[in-house]
Amino acid sequence: MSTQTNQSKRPKKITTRVLQRMKEQGEKIAMLTAYDYSMAKILDAAGIDILLVGDSAANVMAGYETTLPMTLDAMIYHAQSVVRAVNRAMVVVDMPFGTYQGNSTKALESAIRIMKEAEAHAVKMEGGREIIESVERILSAGIPVMGHLGLTPQSIYKFGTYTVRATDPQEAEKLIEDAHLLEETGIFALVLEKIPAQLGKRVAKELKIPVIGIGAGAGVDGQVLVTHDMLGITTDFSPRFLRRYLNLNEQILNAVEQYINDVKTGDFPNENEQY
Ligand code: KIV
Repeated sequence: MSTQTNQSKRPKKITTRVLQRMKEQGEKIAMLTAYDYSMAKILDAAGIDILLVGDSAANVMAGYETTLPMTLDAMIYHAQSVVRAVNRAMVVVDMPFGTYQGNSTKALESAIRIMKEAEAHAVKMEGGREIIESVERILSAGIPVMGHLGLTPQSIYKFGTYTVRATDPQEAEKLIEDAHLLEETGIFALVLEKIPAQLGKRVAKELKIPVIGIGAGAGVDGQVLVTHDMLGITTDFSPRFLRRYLNLNEQILNAVEQYINDVKTGDFPNENEQY
């Protein structure tokens, strides 16, 4: 089938209903992170289904070691830039650490700010039973929620390590219970991060909603990666689940070195590059 025919069959806008249909029809969901207008425009034009304005912006955009310092104002700024770029993709925005845990009123206020000020399409929250009251409250306002279980980077100081989660039966059982609870509460999709592939497959099979994995194996309903990692802009992060599609770090370095050389030698600008 030609790309054109494929594209004409693609839904004009990705909504929660479209994602649900994709799961039911066995069509895999492709999701990437985005934090700025220019990159989001390219990813949307390429046909990405979901753009996640991840709090990984703390790492890749701001240079923090963890996602914990990310503020609601900063997330809204990134989300506004992404939403302005997008025609088709669904834009999901991470609720940053400290804006929803342990206080459902604050959680609702935070989610409403994201939806109102950034005109986002959904929010994402890390955790299971412990955040269920906040999830319920946000859902009651008509805001779609994506869950996130497994390795949840906002709890990194509790885990103490970024290694694979839920390898022991007790943690795997808790994850399965949390996944069911979140689905019963009404989330529209679930991200599973860095867990055994068999567990990812089981959760995707048991849940009716789409399950999107990052390091959760091939048996889930879709995949998500951090764009800066898969394009090879970041180089200091090489987990097993990461496939690098480009080595942009090296290409940008070469281009900038060439530019510096051209400026220093007087090669740039040439006659055609001036008025
Ligand atoms: O913040 C983020 O980029 C994420 C993905 C890793 C799923 O939550």
